Amino acid sequence: MDKMKVCVLEGDGIGPEIVGQALKVLDTVCKARSISLETDHALIGGAAIDAVGEPLPQDTINRCKQADAVLLGAVGGPKWDDVPSHLRPEKGLLGIRKALGLFCNLRPAAIFPALKEASPLRPEIVEGGVDLVVVRELTGDVYFGEHTRTEQNGVTVGQDIMSYSVPEIERIAHKAFHLARKRHKRVTSVDKANVLETSRVWRETVSRIGDEYPDVKLNHMYVDNAAMQLVRNPGQFDVLVTGNLFGDILSDESSMISGSIGMLASASLGEGSMGLYEPIHGSAPDIAGQGLANPLATILSVAMMLRSSFGLNHEADLVEKAVSQALDEGRTADIQADGLPVLSTEQMGDLVAEKVKALLEA
Ligand code: IPM
Ligand code: MG
Repeated sequence: MDKMKVCVLEGDGIGPEIVGQALKVLDTVCKARSISLETDHALIGGAAIDAVGEPLPQDTINRCKQADAVLLGAVGGPKWDDVPSHLRPEKGLLGIRKALGLFCNLRPAAIFPALKEASPLRPEIVEGGVDLVVVRELTGDVYFGEHTRTEQNGVTVGQDIMSYSVPEIERIAHKAFHLARKRHKRVTSVDKANVLETSRVWRETVSRIGDEYPDVKLNHMYVDNAAMQLVRNPGQFDVLVTGNLFGDILSDESSMISGSIGMLASASLGEGSMGLYEPIHGSAPDIAGQGLANPLATILSVAMMLRSSFGLNHEADLVEKAVSQALDEGRTADIQADGLPVLSTEQMGDLVAEKVKALLEA
């Protein structure tokens, strides 16, 4: 590969700061591998509302479509809490996922050895290691069903339609089984089939697709049980595949196992190689602009980008390795440790970039 085109959506709050560090690392990789990196910047979320009055301008969709990959910071903040619901910053995020057909959201949750003590779970629970990925369906479910509010006999009723079609389930199931093949060959499908028809269709479909992957072990779990098992014995999971709403909830829960939401990356993919990469944490408006934010989740999102959109697996591994190495030398305040210097967002980015450079040249 000689060129990559990345559309950058910094978003709100700490978005610009963390994205800046991630781009620094991406640039280091590209320079070392003589790839010409072309970046384009576009507006999303609150920043777009302020500039043009809507959270996802058509111009942003167009620019993203012209890129090979999208790097996103975070959206939202108290400033936009009172805008009408169709104009909320979050709408920008949901809209870009849908517009780019990114139905498959990968959210890995693993414990970095250096951060073992950060997990809120007891040491004996995480001792055996935790390395799971939530594969969350991202463009269907109750998220994209009709949302209505009606008055019925003087009573206000809110309603959101939950639905899944067989093709929607098939394509996400294939993604999960493919991923499991590259990992520990286990898929847990999470649903609420004891109550929901959507889930019964989900379960039947995932089982049928599972038959095409006899080398992968499939089990089914109700979402309430899965929520419990994640804190009881997270080591039992490899790939967890589930719908949009359950995946939203379980991926936040999984992220906490690692102890630091500032460390977790995500990839949103469709059928092709185009993907959107973002940290799973929010825009943290309370610490924005102070150089306090942890850029590692965004840097690790760049690693996912190198792997999933550009097939640069080795370089992706090295970025992850560089992050591990950097954690032994200094950390941002959210994960600070005795005896290690507390670094600013920028210093953390510089340290990782330096490590990446050394690893790539080794
Ligand atoms: C996430 C977030 C979003 C979601 C919000 C901000 C709309 O929680 O990416 O998990 O619910 O998908
Ligand atoms: Mg969420």
